[in-house]
Amino acid sequence: YLNYRVPQTRRDIFQTLIKGLQRLEYRGYDSAGVAVDGSGKDHAASISLYKKTGKVKALDEEIYKNNSIDFEAELDTHFGIAHTRWATHGEPSPLNSHPHRSDKNNEFVVIHNGIITNYKELKKYLVSKGYDFESDTDTEVIPKLIKYLYDNRENDYVSFSTLVERVIQQLEGAFALVFKSIHFPGEAVATRRGSPLLIGVRSQYELSTEQIPVQYNCSKSSSRHPYFSSTYTSPQTCSAPAIIEHTNKVIYLEDDDIAVVVEGKLYVHRIKRTAGEDPVRVIQTLQMELQQIMKGNFKAFMQKEIFEQPESVVNTMRGRICFDSNTVILGGLSDHLKEIKRCRRLIVIGCGTSYHAGVATRQILEELTELPVMVELASDFLDRITPVFRDDVCFFISQSGETADTLMALRYCKQRGALTVGVTNTVGSSICRETDCGVHINAGPEVGVASTKAYTSQFVSLIMFGLMMSEDRLSMQQRRLEIINGLKKLPELIKEVLALDDQIKSIADELHHQRSLLVMGRGYNYATCLEGALKIKEITYMHSEGILAGELKHGPLALIDKHMPVIMVIMRDACYKKCHNALEQVTARQGRPIILCCQDDPEISKMAYKTIELPHTVDCLQGIISVIPLQLISFHLAVLRGYDVDFPRNLAKSVTVE
Ligand code: F6R
Repeated sequence: YLNYRVPQTRRDIFQTLIKGLQRLEYRGYDSAGVAVDGSGKDHAASISLYKKTGKVKALDEEIYKNNSIDFEAELDTHFGIAHTRWATHGEPSPLNSHPHRSDKNNEFVVIHNGIITNYKELKKYLVSKGYDFESDTDTEVIPKLIKYLYDNRENDYVSFSTLVERVIQQLEGAFALVFKSIHFPGEAVATRRGSPLLIGVRSQYELSTEQIPVQYNCSKSSSRHPYFSSTYTSPQTCSAPAIIEHTNKVIYLEDDDIAVVVEGKLYVHRIKRTAGEDPVRVIQTLQMELQQIMKGNFKAFMQKEIFEQPESVVNTMRGRICFDSNTVILGGLSDHLKEIKRCRRLIVIGCGTSYHAGVATRQILEELTELPVMVELASDFLDRITPVFRDDVCFFISQSGETADTLMALRYCKQRGALTVGVTNTVGSSICRETDCGVHINAGPEVGVASTKAYTSQFVSLIMFGLMMSEDRLSMQQRRLEIINGLKKLPELIKEVLALDDQIKSIADELHHQRSLLVMGRGYNYATCLEGALKIKEITYMHSEGILAGELKHGPLALIDKHMPVIMVIMRDACYKKCHNALEQVTARQGRPIILCCQDDPEISKMAYKTIELPHTVDCLQGIISVIPLQLISFHLAVLRGYDVDFPRNLAKSVTVE
């Protein structure tokens, strides 16, 4: 965060930084830190660092009880950096948290999002040159390296951005970096490769241009952009929440861009020009409102997001389905539809919940497209070096659009010439930008770490894709009509399920002391079981497994007895009979299943310990309805067990490391 010639107290500056961190806390939060200009007359001649493990609130308290800080001191120009960490290398501790520093005088300090893969080699070299390391992180090589380059500069004058350029030439891996230095007071330098980076731009003047030209030789005299008076930087493309209350004007940096702010003016330059690249960075306007990301009357963001689903699925379909003519148009795919129809197979790739959206829709995609559909976990897909061909179409499902494994898989498929399609919830995210075409699921910002409304919107988006692909197939018109009608009624049915919340809470009351919870089903509802079990384990810390009912007798049946809590999903579809068999096997072992079933199914109710009766819809949409009670159960279990629903331990909203 940089303020230039806009007097502010040190208290204001801390508040801006801390508040920005708090807005990002949902992304990863085992520790936090800030670096600001030091105290005293010549405040920019020193840098003060404050770090703390735990939540941002702990850092805030630590700062405010520090008697040596003059909070009322007014500063004219100021540059501060702040970071929340989610540990990858080194346990959560003040020393391992960011900002990292070059030396005890804090000559250079750095915040980093990503992973430096060659840090061991760099560290060895720097240690041999006499640099002492104080943390176990990969990041610490960066401030040490910049100091090394500064100490060994050939000329007396070297610019801050030149030093940063030289640093990144030595780095391998993924990074978004922001540097601060006592040698360059009031200057900010930021850069990225692999990890996203967004710059918020606020000006006391009207912005007279909507773009920043990219420079190649860094000669500043010709590159001044006269209108920027303050700049907020934050380390994630989708970390707009950190800046949205200050400005909605943003610039997304590209890989290897170096952004420098000198005397309140922003410059973007690159080390070298590559053929075909865009010579400008456009200033974009974010449409997100702050209240959109606030909790409202709900106890947690996750709860709010579960209850938003009647609207979020409508937003996903808005303007895309015409219920009068039964047509579906996904504008982002139209230009590539012919090519997609000619493909050899569809490969749907994602992680966690986004992967489950692929599992949930595989069968209907196979049916509507008549193509082979592979659904892949991004990490495993890469581990297997899976063969991919030019005539494959690869879908990348990601709420954040930033998940490192999914992004790597995208680059892998692109290299092999496949057509790449993004299905994301974050406009401007890396996956959006790097895919050939795509669909925005338009679910609205999802803040809770546990993904809920994004799943149902991904589900609906993939179904719409299937419908679009089958539009000219005469034999499929009846089926398409049935699905389109089902989609139309979906919001009302979701409301019906949400109305069961009290009943679901009472079931959670009974279960919350248990250590384990199995979730069983098959066919269209297998994905519901996987997704339900993931929700339960990630926010309640209970062991939970999604089990394919067809596999019951091949092992899991051994777990069943009267003590083991089991949830079964048994809907009226082609698997009904087979699910019934599984139910018999469970009750024969004295299992006492809680069954999610369709309304008015006395036969199932008879055999259940408890039932949650759900409205019936088309088989391929039933998973949208059946997942909601499991989202609610996991929410209530977590609350009853006393856990922080939106901040499950060890997890981050967006996993930007492999
Ligand atoms: C679970 C959850 C994660 C994410 C996964 C992929 O509730 O949120 O499993 O689904 O990390 O994230 P995206 O969809 O952002 O790629």
